[in-house]
Amino acid sequence: MKEFEIGVVGAGYVGLATGASLAYLGNRVTLMDKDAQRIAALKRGELPIFEPGLGEVLAKCSKRLNFTVDLDPVVQAAEVLFVAVGTPMAEDGSVDLSDISEVARGIGRTLSGRDRPLVVVNKSTVPVGSGDYISMLIQEGTEESGGGEANFQVVSNPEFLREGSALYDSLYPDRIVIGADSRQAIEVMRELYRPVVEQSFATELDPRPKNAVPLLVTDLASAEMIKYASNAFLATKISFINEIANICELTGADARSVAQGIGLDARIGSRFLNAGIGWGGSCFPKDVAALRAISAEYGYEAIMLPAVAEVNERQHKRVIEKLQQELHTLRGKRVALLGLSFKPNTDDLREAPSLKIASKLDGCGARVVGYDPVAGKAAGRAVPELVIVHDPYEAIEGAHAAVLITEWQELKEIDLKRAGSLMQEPRLLVDGRNVYDPRKVRDSGMLYRGFGRE
Ligand code: UGA
Repeated sequence: MKEFEIGVVGAGYVGLATGASLAYLGNRVTLMDKDAQRIAALKRGELPIFEPGLGEVLAKCSKRLNFTVDLDPVVQAAEVLFVAVGTPMAEDGSVDLSDISEVARGIGRTLSGRDRPLVVVNKSTVPVGSGDYISMLIQEGTEESGGGEANFQVVSNPEFLREGSALYDSLYPDRIVIGADSRQAIEVMRELYRPVVEQSFATELDPRPKNAVPLLVTDLASAEMIKYASNAFLATKISFINEIANICELTGADARSVAQGIGLDARIGSRFLNAGIGWGGSCFPKDVAALRAISAEYGYEAIMLPAVAEVNERQHKRVIEKLQQELHTLRGKRVALLGLSFKPNTDDLREAPSLKIASKLDGCGARVVGYDPVAGKAAGRAVPELVIVHDPYEAIEGAHAAVLITEWQELKEIDLKRAGSLMQEPRLLVDGRNVYDPRKVRDSGMLYRGFGRE
């Protein structure tokens, strides 16, 4: 098996998981980020993000991993250069390509002094057509530095990892997508991903035997679209079940049973059908908005995408409505928010429903107290009116209502009897993720309100 010299530009979730997994597979990896503090922390062995298992793998592979703030030497040395920089959402929902453009020009400048071929692999989520744009910027960078024809190929290799299971998803993906026009670049990518495709690496991270992982080769534009279409479909699936849950509440059906019943149809599938307060994070909100903005640029008015986002916004408001139904006025009431990160096993608060809900509750005059195993401090900074405590029971003590926002394991396993005894009337528990047994909650002296399962 060939060991590659890999460069990774951008040491965020995607860059770190990509670098760690490729080093784990035996390649030499240099991670570059322009954020000097981040790189200094990584050199000290500190992880700049909370991601289970990642720190251990980085430590284990430290001999094959380097960190730097300089792009030039990384480009000089690499056979394959991954680009995993942020592509944030601009005000109008479009994609801000300034970071990736700067990197592309930088790659081009360095390539002017190099003959060996370089495969530039884009992992950032970019609008369809960006692969060609990146190629153009690289070539421009080379010409600006006095070089001629730069020897490189651009490949799109969209990332499907989830925060909280980033490393697992990198090593055991459902599929690998390679979008490229160059046969040579496709061969390099096939070789690089061979151990993942064949699942032939040491399996100490997950001893279960795995089937071969499909590797799909497409053109550049299709690979770029696959990324948006995947996230938009998943967001749609959640918004769909949330809409069904809202109808279930009115009709007396149970959304969990309905999800199970439809999920058993192999054409539908059972995953991502958990109704609740809706989706957040750095990807679904951004990518649904971006796909809508991209289609508008081409003169196509998307109908489903705005509806998917609107259903999601409505779910946040439904938390407030459920509280108002039982507490009547929220003014002066104490409300505990349990779990603040946008999902469990991450400290990420980007587009976290908790922050919007906390602000809304504060606007209604409620006293809002929050607890999260890792994201509390940052949540308190983001919403200063949110009082952060260090224990779930401290949050619940004296509260008129508690809302489960994020289903961390420790919150799923909370002592309901103790929670009920600590609260004050009407002792309402809004289960934003439908994880508690309503009967047990009621037996513990609390009122239960789930989503689609009254
Ligand atoms: C998502 C995709 O799942 C990844 O495949 C993709 O690579 C990533 O975006 C990305 O584009 O970078 P992530 O945002 O980390 O991953 O988190 P998910 O596990 O997908 O959850 C997203 C949101 O949906 C969370 O707020 C979660 O609570 C919510 N959710 C998820 C539900 O409300 N119901 C469900 O059934 C599942």
